[in-house]
Amino acid sequence: MTVEEQKPFVMRDDEMGRLDGLHTLCMMMGNDQLHWAPLSAPRRVLDLGCGKWMQDFARLNPETKITGLDLEPSISGPNIETVIGDLEKPWPVQPGFDYIHTRWLIGCLSDWKKFFKQCYDNLDSGGWFEILDIGFPCQSADGTLKGDSHLEKWNNLLIEAANLSGRSLTAAKDFGRILEEVGFSNVSVERSRLPMNPWAKNPNERAMGEIALPIHKACYERLGHDFFCTNLKMAPKDVDADLPFVWKEMEDTEIHAWWPIYVVYGQKL
Ligand SMILES: C[S@@+](CC[C@H](N)C(=O)[O-])C[C@H]1O[C@@H](n2cnc3c(N)ncnc32)[C@H](O)[C@@H]1O
Repeated sequence: MTVEEQKPFVMRDDEMGRLDGLHTLCMMMGNDQLHWAPLSAPRRVLDLGCGKWMQDFARLNPETKITGLDLEPSISGPNIETVIGDLEKPWPVQPGFDYIHTRWLIGCLSDWKKFFKQCYDNLDSGGWFEILDIGFPCQSADGTLKGDSHLEKWNNLLIEAANLSGRSLTAAKDFGRILEEVGFSNVSVERSRLPMNPWAKNPNERAMGEIALPIHKACYERLGHDFFCTNLKMAPKDVDADLPFVWKEMEDTEIHAWWPIYVVYGQKL
C-alpha cells in the first residue's frame, strides 16, 4: 500500500503551489506575523505537517533549531532538520520543544485529543503550542449561500463523507476546548474568515478572496474525489459531472461566503 493510500492527505506534486498560496493567506490574516502565541526566543521548535511556514520561521530565527515532522518532508535549511513520521503514531523526535506549530491539518487526523496530548507531552514547561485551521462548512451572513445550492449540497456531503472516514472536517471549532481538556493553560481562540472569492468590499478580504478562489476550487475537487469516491462509493465521473456547478457558484461574487479560520494556542505550565 502506498503512503497516499494509507494517508489520503499526503501532498501530491501539483499541490505544492497551493501551499504557497495558503501561506500567503495566513500572512495576510496575521498581518505578516508567523505566529500568534507570545514567543520569546524559542530554542527548539517543532512544525507538524511541515511546509513553507517552517522555512520562513527558520530564516527569520537563525539561532533556533527547527524540526519538521511529516510523512514526506520536502523543506530543508541550515537550521532545519526533517524527520519522517506519522502524526497518528508515536513521534520519532526528542521532546522538550519551546514551541510546537501546525496548520492546515483538518481532514488528516482522526483523534484530535490524542494529537493535542502528544503536543503537550513534547513541550517543555512554559512552551507554547499553536494551530491554525479551517472550519467546515462555508457560510454566509446574508443568506446569499442558499440551502439548495450545489455548494451547500457538497458541503453537507463532504462533512458526511469525512465523518464516515473518521477524519472530521468540523473539528476546528472544538480545538480550544480540547486543548484545555489535555492540560493546556492560557488558551486563546481567534476566529477570522477566509472569503470564497473576491466578493468582499474590504480590500484585504477582497485580495484574500482573489488568491483563495483557485485554491478552494482545487481543494473541493480533491476532497470530492477522495471522500466521495472512497466513503460514499460515488463514481469519479459523477463527481466530475457535478464539479462545474460547484465551481460556478464558487466564482459567483453575489454569493458572500467564507470559511471560518481558527487560530488556537495554549501554554504548558
Ligand atoms: C495541507 S499540508 C500543510 C503543510 C504545512 N503545514 C503548510 O502550512 O504549508 C498538510 C501536511 O501534513 C502532512 N500530513 C498529513 N497527514 C499526516 C500524518 N498523518 N503524519 C504526518 N504528516 C501528515 C502532509 O504530508 C502535508 O505536508
